[in-house]
Amino acid sequence: MKTRLRDSFFLHYQKDADILVQAPCRINIIGEHTDYNGGLVLPAAINYHIYFAVAQTVTPVVSIYDENKDKRFSYSLDEELDLVGLSQWRKYYYGAIKILQEKHELPGFQVLKVGKAPIGAGISSSAALCCGFIYSLNELFHLGLDRWTIAKLARRVEQEYVGLQCGIMDQFAVLFGESNKALSLNCSDLSYATHDIKLKDYRFMLINSQVKHNLADSAYNERVEEMNEVRRLLGKPDLNAASKEEVLGLPEVLSRRMQHHLFENQRVKSMIAALEDDDYFKAGNILHAGHISLQEYYEVTCEETDFLVETLLDAGAPGARQMGGGFGGCVLALVKEKDAAAITEYCFKEYSNRFNLDLVFYNFEITSGVSTL
Ligand code: GLA
Repeated sequence: MKTRLRDSFFLHYQKDADILVQAPCRINIIGEHTDYNGGLVLPAAINYHIYFAVAQTVTPVVSIYDENKDKRFSYSLDEELDLVGLSQWRKYYYGAIKILQEKHELPGFQVLKVGKAPIGAGISSSAALCCGFIYSLNELFHLGLDRWTIAKLARRVEQEYVGLQCGIMDQFAVLFGESNKALSLNCSDLSYATHDIKLKDYRFMLINSQVKHNLADSAYNERVEEMNEVRRLLGKPDLNAASKEEVLGLPEVLSRRMQHHLFENQRVKSMIAALEDDDYFKAGNILHAGHISLQEYYEVTCEETDFLVETLLDAGAPGARQMGGGFGGCVLALVKEKDAAAITEYCFKEYSNRFNLDLVFYNFEITSGVSTL
């Protein structure tokens, strides 16, 4: 990849790149929609990467070339751009640069971005992009930012420039990933631990439902608002401390949201124990319970992912659930290695009969976080 990146950079800018960076996407085993509520999550970085080659320039101009899109984004560093006129992918770069400029004097630079990470699939290619980009500038200009600072800056870009009121899980996984390990993060105090992923004769399967409903971002922000309302009603910032009586006393919809939150935290703990004990039957049950909770209590699934999860179970998977922000994207399933081919074939056929869409199956490995190449 290094040579490929160097060559493309040279071809595009007629000079050598100073720094090469790779940023992974992530899966989340369990703990969905809990991060922005101070809950527990269990993500891992995966070997679907976004790559950057960057070099400093003498003129104070930013030039970014996205090779996959074959599009450019250039502007002078002292220019104020109108966010409304910027396409989403440009907002990430612009936002990251603006936020860095709050504390750092940035000279001009050139960027080449290459990556095969699928967009909108719920594996957080946006966090990979944003964290990878900030990390690249941090290396290039020796800004001295640590990984937590980069994670928080990248989340600010998402919140302030893109408009998603997200939590910290994706940025955390992209930056702190470790090979063959899941990471359990407590989003209240940002303490975390790593857990070996052995899986024996089982494996995780990642399946793109090929749908992403366009209400996704607005519905995501609505959930964030609902949980803020819960905080107001309970009169406490720490949702994890709510009693059963308090939860049941909430308006019906909010009570369901809170039940998802509290049980999902339990599921993270149970999943860690199940994986530790090689109890894959239990791990599968936890995944499925997580999906039902996202479907009925948090209401962030859709017809396609509900169907896919049930089809996976019919085909013999011990468990599966929709992963990520919701309303489509990827489903994560746990399957017995020897059943994987038959499950793939069965699901592909059933899903295509029902929705006239071809599922995409990703083979992945659990890998380490953002790094230079
Ligand atoms: C998106 C957000 C994360 C998290 C998940 C849902 O990926 O970026 O912060 O909230 O959705 O668990």
